[in-house]
Amino acid sequence: MVFHWFPVIGSTITYGINPIQFFFECREKYGDVFSFVLAGRTVTVTLGAKGNNFVLGGKTSHISAEDVYTNLTTPVFGKGVVYDCPNSTLMEQKKFVKFGLTVENFRYYTHVIADEVEKFLQTHECFKTYRDNANSSDAWGSFPAFQTMSELIIYTASRSLQGEEIRAAVDGSFADIYHDLDGGFKPINLLLPGLPLPMNIKRDKAQKKMSDFYVGIIEKRRAQGEQKEIDMLASLMGQRYRNGRTLSDREIAHIMIALLMAGQHTSSATSSWALVHLAARPDVWQTLYEEQVQNFSNGDGTFREIEYEDLCNLPILDSVIRETLRMHPPIHSILRQVKDDLVVPPTLATSRGGKPKSEDNTYIIPKGHLILASPAVSQLDPDIWKNANIWEPSRWSDPEGVAAQALDQYENGSEKVDYGFGAVSKGTSSPYSPFGAGRHRCIGEQFAYVQLGTVIANLVRKLEIKINCVPPHNYRTMIVVPETPDDISYRRRV
Ligand code: HEM
Repeated sequence: MVFHWFPVIGSTITYGINPIQFFFECREKYGDVFSFVLAGRTVTVTLGAKGNNFVLGGKTSHISAEDVYTNLTTPVFGKGVVYDCPNSTLMEQKKFVKFGLTVENFRYYTHVIADEVEKFLQTHECFKTYRDNANSSDAWGSFPAFQTMSELIIYTASRSLQGEEIRAAVDGSFADIYHDLDGGFKPINLLLPGLPLPMNIKRDKAQKKMSDFYVGIIEKRRAQGEQKEIDMLASLMGQRYRNGRTLSDREIAHIMIALLMAGQHTSSATSSWALVHLAARPDVWQTLYEEQVQNFSNGDGTFREIEYEDLCNLPILDSVIRETLRMHPPIHSILRQVKDDLVVPPTLATSRGGKPKSEDNTYIIPKGHLILASPAVSQLDPDIWKNANIWEPSRWSDPEGVAAQALDQYENGSEKVDYGFGAVSKGTSSPYSPFGAGRHRCIGEQFAYVQLGTVIANLVRKLEIKINCVPPHNYRTMIVVPETPDDISYRRRV
């Protein structure tokens, strides 16, 4: 147990200020397994590859994600989906979402995302300098990284995955509803649920409005007859559970809200981290630009459009995204609740000098406690990665290097498992797992790559960027974002 002065408060404050530093410091003192008190609950952290495997590869008979997350997510997503249903239903819902992420969809998405980036540069107030200096690269403008990328990500996600109706609404009333709903998506609701806070009251009203909004769109589409749309809504409207039941309009609405929330913060954070690092490394920005010239130049200063298939053959762009996710995985702590007393096996319990008091070198985690994996710790572990705290995309180009091996283990790992949403690499023991692993592994990974890749590629074609220094992490939010000020200066590339 991590030493603390006050019961209930325990290590809440130290963890909250910088969880990664807290984990590394505890690892030095206690080994890979230790427990700490977080707002009155006991959390057992299991670090390293074996620790990640213990949590992410755990069986549903032993541990549960829904028991720990439902208080946070159900009031935001709505009833009947994700963590407000049995795990087997979630697995089916993940399968339905995967059906909506086909190559055909990705081809279409790549085009509309590029179109949104262009529109953004042509309309957003921060890019006035870009517009006013069509033939000159002398004038510099600036934009706050996270705030600006959040806006661009909601435009691109709504136009592609969410559908045209949502995209149109983002410019109007939807923005306010989203704002109130998002305001209730806060870590405090994970541990202290049901507080009558103003943000929760607003959240509940917004959830109802947003759910009604999606149901309205579904009803309108049904009334129109044959569907022409290529988006997630269209795909979900045609799915059935294994028992033959179709999804209700409410369930579809709530899955759509879940996808909106799951993708919005993660992709906004990742794109803003990528840009602040790129702004601090003009050499990488230049290499990225040259990759675009090499692959897409029309020879007259213009570029041809990026196709989905192109995105799979742009190694520099790929390594920029991978390295950003290595250093800044948006989710630093992955939690599960223990359903029945759980034994931590000796190999994990004693790793890195852990000293269980039991004779057989095991720890028992009691029923009701939380367990926590932090892939971020393995991704920043100096014992695994050379210059672990330096953002260096080139580490992904060495086919024999640690990064390539970790990726191979993550993508093609020793075994493929089908948890109900298609075969995935188990990947639970890889030191690189920004999208989680096991049965709760992210299904938005490919979409995120399409979105992030298309956004960054279209920006590098048009802008030069710079920043004084990369901002530190802000851990106060659900998702780890750059601390403000995070302004990036830009000028038009001519
Ligand atoms: C850079 C972007 C993203 C990152 C880093 C990311 C990361 C993650 C992680 C770490 C998990 C595992 C959570 C856990 O085990 O408790 C997860 C699950 C999930 N993500 Fe993502 N995600 C991203 C984008 C997206 C997008 C765009 C979508 C939707 C299109 C999405 C939908 C989901 C869903 C449905 C789950 C499954 C939850 C479960 O099974 O419990 N994610 N994501």
